[in-house]
Amino acid sequence: MAASEPIVEVLFSSADISTRNTELAEEIAKDMGSDILVIAVLKGSFVFAADLIRALHYAGVRPQIDFMALSSYGDKTISSGTVVITRDIVDTVKGRKVLLIDDILESGRTMEFAANELLERGAAEVKTCLMLDKKEKRIVDFQADFVGFDCPDLFVIGYGLDFAHYYRELPYIGHIVDE
Ligand code: IMP
Ligand code: MG
Repeated sequence: MAASEPIVEVLFSSADISTRNTELAEEIAKDMGSDILVIAVLKGSFVFAADLIRALHYAGVRPQIDFMALSSYGDKTISSGTVVITRDIVDTVKGRKVLLIDDILESGRTMEFAANELLERGAAEVKTCLMLDKKEKRIVDFQADFVGFDCPDLFVIGYGLDFAHYYRELPYIGHIVDE
């Protein structure tokens, strides 16, 4: 069944996102240097990561790219919710400077888990870049190193973010307005 055409209020336009990606890439290049391993967390970050790595290129970064799929189980509002790797990276992180990219930081559990896992595997450094930060939803004490935009406490879609696997293709980030 196809998704119905919702009324979407745009929060971040594709022009806003593009401008911010250029700024983020410059911040990252300055902080991390040229030789980094980018790990994009699937599925939500694939659109953001695809744009950000090209912005990184123009900022002088020459990254290697890998992917990791993570799933959280259990009620997100309960602090026992656990994160599991459903698709692991292929590259080794030992001694590498790693930039983890994800779509949105809510409870903080996904990023906390992934960053700790990569440090345990011997990464020299792990920094995190999130397109959106929903600060009001934080459960664990985790702060991202690089953030695209602060996000209001609304369910957002587009630019990789889904609702029931739909709307990832929207070129902007918005939220569905109830009729
Ligand atoms: P957390 O920080 O561990 O709670 O995980 C955040 C994850 O939940 C993200 O990677 C998204 O996959 C998903 N998520 C959280 N908020 C939203 C939203 O507003 N729209 C779509 N997905 C979301
Ligand atoms: Mg996700």
